[in-house]
Amino acid sequence: MSDTLVQNGYTDGDVDTNPTNAVSLETLADTRYSRRQAIFGGAKATSLALMGTTMLAACGDDTIESTLVVSAGQNAATSSGRVVILTGSITAGDTNVTSSAWAQNSGPDVDLVVDGLTAMFIAPAVETATDLTFGFAVQNADGEAASATTTIRVSPAVLGFSAVAHSLEDVVTVPSGYTVTVMTRLGDPLAAGVGAYANDGTDTNFAQRIGDHGDALHFFGLSSAGARDDNSSTRGLMVQNHENLNVDYLHPNGPTNVSTGPRPEDEAKKEIEAHGVSVSEYVDGGDRQWTYVADSSFNRRITPMTPMQIMGPAAGSAMLATAYSANGTAGRGTINNCANGISGWGTNLTCEENWAGYFRRDASDVALRTERELTALARYGVSVRTGNYAWSTVASSDPMFTKWNATITGATATDDYRNEPNQYGWVVEIDPYDPASTPRKRTALGRCGHEGAFVRIAAGQKVGVYMGDDSRREYLYKYVSNATWDAGDANVSNRLAVGDKYLDNGTLYVAKFEADGTGTWLPLVFGSVPNRPAVGTTPAYVFADQADILINCRLAADAVGATPMDRPEWTAGNPVTGEIYLTLTNNNASNRPLDGTDAANPRHYGDPNLSGSTSYGNPNGHIVRLREDGDDTAATTFAWDIYLFGADATDYPSDASVNVSGLTTSNDFSSPDGLYFSRDTNPSGQINPVLWIQTDDGAMTDRTNCMMLAALPGHVADGGAVTITNKDSTGATAQQATIAGTPATAANLRRFLVGPVECEITGIDMTPDGRTLFVGIQHPGERGDATTPTSHWPDSQAGSAAATVRPRSAVVAITKDDGGVIAL
Ligand code: FEO
Ligand code: CA
Ligand code: CA
Repeated sequence: MSDTLVQNGYTDGDVDTNPTNAVSLETLADTRYSRRQAIFGGAKATSLALMGTTMLAACGDDTIESTLVVSAGQNAATSSGRVVILTGSITAGDTNVTSSAWAQNSGPDVDLVVDGLTAMFIAPAVETATDLTFGFAVQNADGEAASATTTIRVSPAVLGFSAVAHSLEDVVTVPSGYTVTVMTRLGDPLAAGVGAYANDGTDTNFAQRIGDHGDALHFFGLSSAGARDDNSSTRGLMVQNHENLNVDYLHPNGPTNVSTGPRPEDEAKKEIEAHGVSVSEYVDGGDRQWTYVADSSFNRRITPMTPMQIMGPAAGSAMLATAYSANGTAGRGTINNCANGISGWGTNLTCEENWAGYFRRDASDVALRTERELTALARYGVSVRTGNYAWSTVASSDPMFTKWNATITGATATDDYRNEPNQYGWVVEIDPYDPASTPRKRTALGRCGHEGAFVRIAAGQKVGVYMGDDSRREYLYKYVSNATWDAGDANVSNRLAVGDKYLDNGTLYVAKFEADGTGTWLPLVFGSVPNRPAVGTTPAYVFADQADILINCRLAADAVGATPMDRPEWTAGNPVTGEIYLTLTNNNASNRPLDGTDAANPRHYGDPNLSGSTSYGNPNGHIVRLREDGDDTAATTFAWDIYLFGADATDYPSDASVNVSGLTTSNDFSSPDGLYFSRDTNPSGQINPVLWIQTDDGAMTDRTNCMMLAALPGHVADGGAVTITNKDSTGATAQQATIAGTPATAANLRRFLVGPVECEITGIDMTPDGRTLFVGIQHPGERGDATTPTSHWPDSQAGSAAATVRPRSAVVAITKDDGGVIAL
């Protein structure tokens, strides 16, 4: 350690981080070098051995004995991500300080923030306990100088908060030592001149307000000059999806004729515009006091009417031709935007999930369709119905309303909106930094009920995008670019052109999970995909071209024999290992019967509810993870296991066939959905990154509102083979072998947050420094109505709210009161 000291001298951190005009340690070093070197060397050895206070004196004039004595404070121990405050002091001599300085002598580099005699830093990520040493030097008015050192021993990151208990309260509950700040809420204005949200059903103009049902979100950093800055933790653009509506709270007395119509035009317009995506500027006013900028020029709403470009192999397909775009290369809008993906080049991917239900098809349409069309419409759930919210029943010829009617009414496909359903179900790329840019629908990534799109970028590899299709018995997909990642593309100013390069030319695969813990990515490429076989009276589906395969990738995945999963939701990649995690939120008994389990979807059991009913199937869900062979995104084979099984630990405290992961009431959960690894720019995303798990649950909500947990997961195959005994509602049993990850413990899985009444927790990101966590609270009070709201959140966050206050979806900023990294 003495060698390190001598080599490094006092050059570390000092000049960069000391904001005062004080004499630097380098200056002190120059004048007192030989003597100081001897003293520090000896002192350091002593402090390491004793872990006690280090005090040094006598660095003054060589002929006059100095009376100045200083302390660098107690040596101390901490762990990664925590705040460390170094406190220097004068313990003897003339305290009239003319200059002082702090500097790091050894250990992993930290940013020292110096304030007078104290200095602060965030303990860095370390693999094993590591000592960091710091020097403190002072000069006084008598010309005397003295210095001292202190040692901080940093241990690897741990979950450093007390688990939050189950809660049915109407607030967001976080661990003690943390603070919740409500940020953008449903209806908040996004432009100058837009009035504050009255929240009584009278508000209009949602094309300039925050939309409803906030879902996935991401913080895109901005520099103080207003340019893209991926490292900014103090200013950024919050990009949030708006998946759906709580229509009961959106109008003065609830919706009019909502199931069958005719709908009033003003109500339908409001509902349509409350969908889509919002971009709003967030600013830290100092020490993580976050507010949003209502009139920022970056603010934007993307609605179901915003012009879009259709890109990739399906662009121009006759199956995408509509009255709006005769050549099938353009569209209007995005809808039911659920989870997201973040490219490596500064753009946002928004995913269209449950879009099928918005479309109307009249009974007359059935006889007018080809067999192929009927097969495709049925496979995607575009059935004969009025469509969610019956928007097409508005007495208007405005395409805002008419395009939701997919019934054949015109002479050709360019005379009506028969193909409009084919324009949804895509992953859509948005450049959040350019409010005038036209979003691009990336057809190469396939069309389904897209939940999320985690983008994996690794040096020297193809770009991979991992995507769940959220419906029962749907599949996990992977897209692999043709182009190899070029790091130079990360900062190209024409970001959507970079998207063209990586997201329009590549191969779509679907996952097949084998019982032995291996898996295969099956390519969905025209020419190699067989016909989709006949099912009952539905004839075989013969693919026409690659556009057909992408538009109907569910049929293609059926044809190649992909593994039907228990509702694939979000994907997330461990930034250190590259392993991909996938939430499988739940399944019911008819779609996961006792005799229909497999190794990757292994459970069938009953979860009793306090109401007396019992849900069978896989009501609590699980999380599967995979590791690509060779850690290559382009691999066509992988290894997998089940990282974690949801369960109600009160009902199943010790049944290893249901509570497979050994959950307790401090970490039990049900229906995992949102999934996110901490950013690798701070200690919570380095070495052993924190995984965040959010729930969208209806099975355990008798005990607790939906929640978010923090985990320190291991890796694929850190557990082993287990055999589960499943049991159905008749008491019949069956055995199912699977591969389970290492069990949960209080150290590796803890409940961090519980949301308000009848909410879903969805959407998460953090500032690059990891010291602010943004979380989405969706549809609080979703079962209430305008006259009897069942939640009053976020007004209720302050402790109480009037019984008439309507709930609003909102983003919260969570900070640690001591300024440390969240969760650590
Ligand atoms: Fe929109 Fe599958 O959650
Ligand atoms: Ca239960
Ligand atoms: Ca979701």
